[in-house]
Amino acid sequence: MTSPDSSGRKKRIFSGMQPSGEAHLGNYLGALRRWVAMQDDYDCIWCIVDQHAITAGGDPGELPRNVLDLAISYLAVGLDPQKAIIFVQSDVPEHTELAWLFNAITPVGDLERMTQFKDKSQRFESIPAGILNYPILQAADILLYKADAVPVGEDQKQHLEMTRDVARKFNVAYGETFPETEPLIAEDVGRIMGLDGEAKMSKSLDNTIPVLADADAVWAKVRTAVTDPQRVRRDDPGDPGVCNVYSLHKFFTDIETRADIETRCRAGTIGCVDCKRILSDNIADAFEPFRERAAEFHAKPELVREILDDGAARARVIARQTIGEVRDRMGLDWRSAIS
Ligand code: TYM
Repeated sequence: MTSPDSSGRKKRIFSGMQPSGEAHLGNYLGALRRWVAMQDDYDCIWCIVDQHAITAGGDPGELPRNVLDLAISYLAVGLDPQKAIIFVQSDVPEHTELAWLFNAITPVGDLERMTQFKDKSQRFESIPAGILNYPILQAADILLYKADAVPVGEDQKQHLEMTRDVARKFNVAYGETFPETEPLIAEDVGRIMGLDGEAKMSKSLDNTIPVLADADAVWAKVRTAVTDPQRVRRDDPGDPGVCNVYSLHKFFTDIETRADIETRCRAGTIGCVDCKRILSDNIADAFEPFRERAAEFHAKPELVREILDDGAARARVIARQTIGEVRDRMGLDWRSAIS
């Protein structure tokens, strides 16, 4: 995708993340790292989606802290309020309004087909409607800002297809209003697996490496990571092709060192602990500047509040405009019957 477009306007990018505390390595590689790189070339909007988070049924007492921690993660990795709008979803009520309006045009069957719905609904005896309607709120997030593109990890592909469907259906029913937003999937990253090597890295599974962890905390996590399951003793030959730890080296370790690790792993001359040590040190080095910036924001939480307040005010200007247009198109301007 190129920006600006033929009219000279910078293309608009929107993306969001659920506040389940500090961001983790999967969030960083699948999303944040790319968001930071886009800020100079695109008109960017970064959201903290607290209204999505409540569908997971967490402790309400923890949510405010989790929002603050995620905001600090955003700022620490380099999201920049001078270049982008950074805000919290529930500060802009137009998100839920638009989601409701999209409910009117979204078939339940489409929602029931979502893989994430099928996975998540298994955890409930009585499935909350919010789990089913989750992708509608996501479509509303994106389309409220008429985003041209959305950078996300591979696990969000289906939700973005749904967003395009919603836009198409709306445009057919009520006239051309929304773009068919382009998904920018981190194909080269794919799905970062958790330390267990079995499931996607995810806060809810407690298998993550947090981006603000210090060197000791990174090591405490990496040390426990599952490697090639066939490799039992230190001098057994290993297969880097099936090792989750080796797959993470690709993002943090230079190419020569990686080639050396691969050769020595296959020959059984480097043990998993040594291989993990190199990875852990490299991750800790890469995250060092984030920790320093996070400490500054932790010391000044009121600055974070100002940034988010300002972001919400700027987001609302755009959101109000879109909602006005949508209300008109859907016939929700009853006063027009009088004047
Ligand atoms: P969430 O909060 O689960 O994840 C935020 C971003 O991080 C990426 N990601 C990963 N990438 C690779 N490997 C992993 N293990 C991994 N875990 C997370 C996700 O792909 C995502 O880009 N439904 C969304 C939040 C959302 C949203 C939106 C996103 C709500 N509205 C509008 C984009 C646009 C979610 O739960 O992401």
